[in-house]
Amino acid sequence: MAGSDFKVADLSLAPLGRRRIEMAEREMPGLMSLRSKYGSSKPLSGHRVSGSLHMTTETAVLIETLVELGADVRWASCNIFSTQDDAAAAVASKGVPVFAWKGETAEEYWWCTRRALTFPGGVGPDLIVDDGGDATLMIHLGWEMEEAFAKTGSIPAASAGSKDEAALDANLREAVPSSPSFWHSVAGGVIGVSEETTTGVHRLYQRESAGRLLFPAYNVNDSVTKSKFDNTYGCRESLPDGIKRATDVMVAGKTVLVCGYGEVGKGCCQSMRAFGARVLVTEIDPICALQAVMEGYEVTTVEDALLEANIFVTATGNRDVITAAHMAAMKDQAIVCNIGHFDNEIQMDALEALPGIVRQNIKPQVDRYVFPDGHCVYILAEGRLVNLGCATGHPSFVMSNSFTNQCMALMALLEERPAIGVYRLPKKLDEEVARLHLGQLGVKLTRLTPEQASYIGVDAEGPYKPDHYRY
Ligand code: NAD
Ligand code: ADE
Repeated sequence: MAGSDFKVADLSLAPLGRRRIEMAEREMPGLMSLRSKYGSSKPLSGHRVSGSLHMTTETAVLIETLVELGADVRWASCNIFSTQDDAAAAVASKGVPVFAWKGETAEEYWWCTRRALTFPGGVGPDLIVDDGGDATLMIHLGWEMEEAFAKTGSIPAASAGSKDEAALDANLREAVPSSPSFWHSVAGGVIGVSEETTTGVHRLYQRESAGRLLFPAYNVNDSVTKSKFDNTYGCRESLPDGIKRATDVMVAGKTVLVCGYGEVGKGCCQSMRAFGARVLVTEIDPICALQAVMEGYEVTTVEDALLEANIFVTATGNRDVITAAHMAAMKDQAIVCNIGHFDNEIQMDALEALPGIVRQNIKPQVDRYVFPDGHCVYILAEGRLVNLGCATGHPSFVMSNSFTNQCMALMALLEERPAIGVYRLPKKLDEEVARLHLGQLGVKLTRLTPEQASYIGVDAEGPYKPDHYRY
């Protein structure tokens, strides 16, 4: 349903979305306390914020916090399947331009991202909230295409890439000849971006070290209260939610292979074990492999697990972790899913292209692929992140930690006005985010005496750990 300046699936879902948002607010004490603290001073007043982050109920609470802090906000989702249509409708019905619905095509996805980045009068945002780096990517690739066009009068041929990359290239290519400086003016106006996730942060550091980063960035992912909580405890709850809503499968007694034993993989393994599964792990990093084996998981390779595992979960942030050849050799009825940010962890295009393969849709975001030998595998959310494609992502409480960091990063960008580079929030703010979430859980924190503080060499008010401490 398109309004004058929004596009969502169905605006009549707004009352349901609003009730869910009200429930979530009670579970998001960090964001609500920012509203109380900054609601009158409005530190984001006069600033245009574009978001590219899963348009869920929790994100609705973030958006409405940013509005309460004074921002002019526009939003798109960062995945074609992750929007909760009721939440999107509720936010749009309050007048925030939202461009997001569950089940976008790749072309629609980039159209939505561009609309979220274009404020009235054709100006761009001065602050960006990104999750996975797609808003940042669109601006940078648009800028690079304009540079090439200005030098040569033509746009270089697209290099072969994924369907999503091809759709982005087509979106940019169409508009550059008629507005050849749009992305330059957008990039020039950005004070900074705050990035939510591991994969988006990798992209930022890669751009920074190549000297191709156009504006400063805060790495929110590596706040302790983000990656050690959202990535681990969030996925611990939302991975089984996604698998079960999609398949209703009994996890107990099954063998589950989790690829990647980083922050996300650790949470996935814990929940699969808690359900009663035998858990196998793959890793490339000897430290993470050693951690996994110390926890009692068997560390093996995908190849060696093919004839044992019933459920495969990728959590690496890497590409081609489960190949089409792997799926051809899996047990009958294996379930294959990904919880990493991008779908390239599983070779979906190569699977579709296998001679004789037949795709049978079971229900939205659940497909059975039948191989010529008669065995089949179930693919969840077309290989996109299963917790947001087949369920509603992490619970509100953990997202409150992540999103309080996001708000603090935007405020830090305004206060510090840092040079181009990638920054992390200071530990004191990280501790503050945690502190804001203790009361609701009835935590009684021990206070240091002055003697104790001086004995361990910290300020009684924190920070309590050196930056190299790993938690
Ligand atoms: P991480 O870097 O902590 O962990 C990834 C692990 O995968 C590392 O230990 C790495 O050694 C391992 N790895 C890399 N290539 C591998 C391969 N080929 N085979 C086996 N292991 C391999 O990252 P993370 O924070 O756990 O994030 C993982 C992914 O999940 C990222 O894409 C991140 O953006 C995403 N993420 C998703 C959600 C969600 O809600 N779905 C939440 C947080 C993060
Ligand atoms: N990432 C993981 N879970 C999420 C949620 N519920 N909302 C937004 N982003 C998320």
